This record gives sequence, C-alpha cells and structure tokens, in this order.
Amino acid sequence: TFDMAAIEGILAKRKSMPGALLPILHDIQNVIGYIPPSVVPVIAESINVSRAEVHGVITYYHFFRQHPAGKHVVQICRAEACQARGCEELASHAKELLGCDFHGTTDDNNFSLETVYCLGQCASGPAIQIDDDLYARVSKEKFNRLIQAKRG
Ligand code: FES
Repeated sequence: TFDMAAIEGILAKRKSMPGALLPILHDIQNVIGYIPPSVVPVIAESINVSRAEVHGVITYYHFFRQHPAGKHVVQICRAEACQARGCEELASHAKELLGCDFHGTTDDNNFSLETVYCLGQCASGPAIQIDDDLYARVSKEKFNRLIQAKRG
C-alpha cells in the first residue's frame, strides 16, 4: 500500500504546468519510492494524456521503478572509464551473485541492482555505490564482501 493522498497532492501541485509528466513521476518516486502501476490511469487522467503515454515514459527512463526497491540499492558504474577497468565482468558477477538482472530486485527483497553512468571515481574503477556509500576498485571478491556485510 502507498500514500494516495501524497500522490493526489503532487498531481494537484503539478498538473497545470507544461511538461508536467516527468516532474510528476519524479515527485511520486521520491515520495513513494516507485510508481505504483495502479496510479498510471490517475496520472493520465489528471494531465489529459493516454495511459500508454504515461507507461511509455516510465519504461523508457530506467530510473523509474514499477515496484518497490529492495532494502539496499546497488549501483554499478558502466560508463567508459569503468568499462576500461573491467566493470562488465563485475556486472556479470553481480547479476550471478544476486540472482537478478539490472533494474531488478532479489527474491528476498534485500537488493536492487542498477546501472549508473559515472560516479566520479573514473581513475579508480570499477566503481559502485551501495545506498549512499561509494566504493572504488571493486574486485569480485570485494563485491562479495560488501554484499555479505549488507546481508548482515
Ligand atoms: Fe565509472 Fe566514472 S566511469 S566512475
């Protein structure tokens, strides 16, 4: 369940501005943590666009979630400098270890896995961020340790 009154407040505040859809989606995700599929028709109606259009924007921008995130969000940098330092190998390893794909959440709801493009640690990649903490030079072993520590 989620706070429908909060969503209505966001819609009331934003709906008459031009290009309201993206700001509305950002606000909802900020407050609720994801965009509940059941509010898509409500958003569509309030700003007079089709449901398909709202859904299209949500799926186009990978930033938006359609489900609540896991307890921890693991972001792996896959931008150029980290590519050169082997982030794709780390990415495959992360998917295997967590048993979920990018933009997915583990079965136990402990972790969501996301791609990010540059964390400002280009000289010491591969770089990742777990929740609010940045980690550089992340080997597979280091990744395992970090995940283990979060599993607690
Ligand atoms: Fe990965 Fe900049 S490219 S931190």
